[in-house]
Amino acid sequence: MTFDRSVKIAPSILSADFANFGLEIQAIEGQGADWVHVDVMDNHFVPNLTFGPPAVAAFRKHVKTVMDVHLMITPVDPSIEAYAQAGTDILTAHVEAGPHIHRTLQAIRAAGMKAGVALNPGTPAESVAHVLDLADLVCVMTVNPGFGGQKFIDMTAKVRRLREMIGDRPVHIEIDGGVNPETAPGLVAAGADILVAGSAVFRGGSVENPGPYGRNIRAIRNAIT
Ligand code: DX5
Ligand code: ZN
Repeated sequence: MTFDRSVKIAPSILSADFANFGLEIQAIEGQGADWVHVDVMDNHFVPNLTFGPPAVAAFRKHVKTVMDVHLMITPVDPSIEAYAQAGTDILTAHVEAGPHIHRTLQAIRAAGMKAGVALNPGTPAESVAHVLDLADLVCVMTVNPGFGGQKFIDMTAKVRRLREMIGDRPVHIEIDGGVNPETAPGLVAAGADILVAGSAVFRGGSVENPGPYGRNIRAIRNAIT
């Protein structure tokens, strides 16, 4: 993966048909998704439970773009190797998930993956000030993590601050939660380049009728250009 800051849309398969992940991944990639965002939840760090390494390994067989795995779990470190083995390209851990985010990011890179760090809405940009050289991506949560389809929480000022802090470093700013054609433009103007979108992409479509996925992705793209 070479680094570039062009805006990319990463549909979250949290909004896909859970009995049909393989075909859903093929459908969103066929309709123009740049990355595939995979939300791992443990019913402990967040009040919801999704899937773990064996399922993520099965998704990998269908992902032709970039598999972006967002861990909403604690602890993180004991699972890092399993997500590397599952074929993860970018593994993101929450700064709130434990006391040792520095060690976690080192371990993610040591396992051969790109490393991401995610911030809940209540967590300041400064919490990642000392790990920016260890990160390939900072994920700014614009909902409290746990569920798709929640109301957007405006984090534009945090995105702007992170963009300044990152400077010339090759670090993506990803937005996760409530991204749609209305919320995306301000976030991109503030410096975001990866837009995760669940409900706004999957709305109205299905594997039998994937056209709406493409229209929804294009609606976000058109809003920002
Ligand atoms: C929330 C997840 C998100 C979620 C976004 O905990 O991390 O990736 O799927 O869903 P929407 O776009 O519907 O807010
Ligand atoms: Zn996510």
